[in-house]
Amino acid sequence: MESPTRIAVHGPKPYDVLVGHGLLGELGEIVTGRQRIAVIHPASLRTTAEAIQADLTGHEVHLVEVPDGEAQKDLKVAAYCWDVLGQVGFTRSDAVVGVGGGATTDLAGFVAATWLRGVPVVNIPTTLLGMVDAAVGGKTAVNTAAGKNLVGAFHPPAGVLCDLSALETVPRHDYVAGLAEVIKVGFTHDPRILELVEEDPSAATTPQGRHTRELVERAIAVKAAVVSDDLTEQGVRETLNYGHTLGHAIEKAESYKWRHGAAVSVGLVFAAELGRLAGRLDDGTAARHRAVLESVGLPTSYAGAWDRLHATMAVDKKSRGSRLRFVVLDGLAKPRMLEDPDPSLLVAAYEEVRKDRGGEVFL
Ligand code: GLY
Repeated sequence: MESPTRIAVHGPKPYDVLVGHGLLGELGEIVTGRQRIAVIHPASLRTTAEAIQADLTGHEVHLVEVPDGEAQKDLKVAAYCWDVLGQVGFTRSDAVVGVGGGATTDLAGFVAATWLRGVPVVNIPTTLLGMVDAAVGGKTAVNTAAGKNLVGAFHPPAGVLCDLSALETVPRHDYVAGLAEVIKVGFTHDPRILELVEEDPSAATTPQGRHTRELVERAIAVKAAVVSDDLTEQGVRETLNYGHTLGHAIEKAESYKWRHGAAVSVGLVFAAELGRLAGRLDDGTAARHRAVLESVGLPTSYAGAWDRLHATMAVDKKSRGSRLRFVVLDGLAKPRMLEDPDPSLLVAAYEEVRKDRGGEVFL
């Protein structure tokens, strides 16, 4: 079996992201010397959590089962986790492990960030989105009535284990939705990703595809480099929000029933059109967005009311004061900020998104 790839994340608390197969053994090394281990996992991953427990001999392992999906990113669920940590006498010499998709690693990270003002967390993402985005970079959060991810902390993990075997059981639409984040960094930082997808789009939509490992590793390498330079999103990290300003507004308009990646896919087309209409991005690269995203079956059009989306974008975390900010491209792999664009440009870019070019419905 190929040895794991180790991608370093630098910064005040450096750590490695490991990508490969059969990585459970690596967890023991990361948590060496930690007495108690709390494994936070959704109900659907009980068997995986039990396998981790069996593997971590010599530690006192507590399995903390939480609901599946976005429902787990709730203060009540975090409070339940804190209760368990309190009952077992969890100290700063112990460690949390988050096993699951992005929702679980966000929750586990939040619990670890807040318990005793910060205990170590190791992320074991089991979805494509989790591996290439959520589990790397130290953003942790729960959702509140005011919105998604508004309460959280930057709490970098002590390590991230991306076991590619876990992708085999990810439902197809979830896998494809995760590809939106991979394609995003293809446009913002690493165009080789786009070539790998374009070479064989249908292979890119399955974890068995011949370029899967390279796609995952390239996407993680970009994220690792960006967050190494800017953990707390004061500068370059904002570029990872390419496509997310409209994407988040669509998620909200759809009451979070759309997958994140599907909404980001539409948001990427919008951002490309915005860049093009602002005279910053060439026609060919703008058109390539739609072509690559559609080639893997992601949605590229949306017909919701503009006024509502615009109002949501104005209060997005990425806006400052009343000024709207967007990441646009000044060319392939040249992400830059566009501040307070003319409202007519926004409307014109959205008109391009509203043009339905047919294709399968993807939620
Ligand atoms: N998902 C974007 C970031 O982690 O900054």
